[in-house]
Amino acid sequence: MQDIIQKLEQKRAEAKLGGGQKRIDAQHQKGKLTARDRIEVLLDEGSFEEWDIFVEHRCTDFGMQDKTIPGDGVVIGYGTINGRLVFIYSQDFTVFGGSLSEAHAEKICKVMDQAMKVGAPVIGISDSGGARIQEGVASLGGYAEVFQRNVLASGVVPQISLIMGPCAGGAVYSPAITDFIFMVEDSSYMFVTGPDVVKTVTHETVTAEDLGGALTHTSRSGVADLSFENDIDALMKTRRFFNFLPSNNKEQPPHRNTDDSQDRAEHALDTLVPDNPNQPYDMHEVIRKLVDESDFFELQPNYAKNIIIGFGRMEGSTVGFVANQPMVLAGCLDINSSIKAARFVRFCDAFNIPLITLVDVPGFMPGTTQEYGGIIKHGAKLLYAYAECTVPKITVITRKAYGGAYDVMASKHLRGDVNLAWPSAEIAVMGPQGAVEIIFREEAKDPDKLKQRTEEYRDKFATPFVAGRRGYIDDVILPRDTRKRVCRSLAMLSQKDLQNPWKKHGNIPL
Ligand code: HXC
Repeated sequence: MQDIIQKLEQKRAEAKLGGGQKRIDAQHQKGKLTARDRIEVLLDEGSFEEWDIFVEHRCTDFGMQDKTIPGDGVVIGYGTINGRLVFIYSQDFTVFGGSLSEAHAEKICKVMDQAMKVGAPVIGISDSGGARIQEGVASLGGYAEVFQRNVLASGVVPQISLIMGPCAGGAVYSPAITDFIFMVEDSSYMFVTGPDVVKTVTHETVTAEDLGGALTHTSRSGVADLSFENDIDALMKTRRFFNFLPSNNKEQPPHRNTDDSQDRAEHALDTLVPDNPNQPYDMHEVIRKLVDESDFFELQPNYAKNIIIGFGRMEGSTVGFVANQPMVLAGCLDINSSIKAARFVRFCDAFNIPLITLVDVPGFMPGTTQEYGGIIKHGAKLLYAYAECTVPKITVITRKAYGGAYDVMASKHLRGDVNLAWPSAEIAVMGPQGAVEIIFREEAKDPDKLKQRTEEYRDKFATPFVAGRRGYIDDVILPRDTRKRVCRSLAMLSQKDLQNPWKKHGNIPL
């Protein structure tokens, strides 16, 4: 028996070396952790249970029958993050460049299937040269098996992708379907076709970093949600992020005890909105003053900055924030911000996370770029997402809520549960001057009359009271009381039960 145990230990130790010490050293020299190091950092100490360490590929072409490495380039299993169950797969670049074989794909599918059965999130760590070239179509089939599971798991268990090395070709579509993509700066990239193919087809010269590095995807394309300085930073922040998420679509968001009192008054909010309606202020200030312990986890902070999205907690429970940002494009809704917020709203709705919407929006962005780009369809995504969603929705209008954007931003008419306004709110079809220039076209040519009519309009319509008279907002509140009012609303809504009519699925304007 002793012999057998020794043999097992030796086999396991060999398997743990993956592609061998030389390749592990090379990985470290690039500033990257190995697949196993990453799991160690991400999961609670000693919690990892590995599966399929002895799985090998079955390829016999190109001399592959003589080249088998136990585990076949991906480490899979389950463990915990702060005590909560999570399934994980981590591609091992030291084994055939982390490339995906049929057996490698089967391993990924195994954890995904199990995660679905027990209702736990899946975290996938990508570090791979793509399809295992020696396996041809068997590898492509493997990818599609993973994609299919990503789609079925979408909205059932949270899926997070950490891109910590190459992720190219069709391989990018698995992370793309997952809920969140985090990248590591200078060592990860994602693209459908690499720089060489780009050069041949479009004659553009571009580096891998410019084409698909972390900066590109967090600021230009919006493909990735966040980027981190290095592997450790990415893994530690993912642990923090994980704490905000429920484990599945039947669970309520996790609760964390807090000493932050629900009726904390924030007097600074009373003076935050400037007297001049054209002067911006930072909506982050409002969010930080509302959430427990100022702890706000922002997503996509460098993309479509005219809207802010992210998670915080109110009285210990996770909430999602969507907020117009008057500091960027005056907080206008455009194509990118609509898509960014719509996807976030749908995530929150799928996973029972209440939504708090902070509104200061002068309207949709005008111009040919936006119209030719399809703002009609993309703006409708946000409208659709808000209208469809059934989680508690609390809206606070801090200043402007003009035109269609008023409707879109979780208005009463889109089943907003509690709609509050600050005294500085201006809820109207459009800004005062624009309105006067249309309805008093002739008079508006005279600057004095324009000024007078604008003031008249401002007094009459650029207030919260017209909407208040109709019950479109439930109350006009003191800014300092916002946290208390939102917390009370959330408590009142904790048992909210609202169903949409039965359908196979809706047809969101994609
Ligand atoms: C088999 C691969 C591999 C692959 C890398 N390797 N990619 N083996 N299939 N796809 C092996 C290499 O042969 C090498 O083995 C080891 O992994 C490390 O690779 P290097 O090239 O030495 O590393 P590096 O210089 O860091 O370059 C990494 C790389 C490069 C940029 C990822 O390896 C590369 O371009 N690989 C091919 C990428 C590719 O075209 N993949 C197919 C994409 S199409 P040794 O034994 O020397 O250490 C695709 C379709 C998916 O993926 C479709 C899904 C629907």
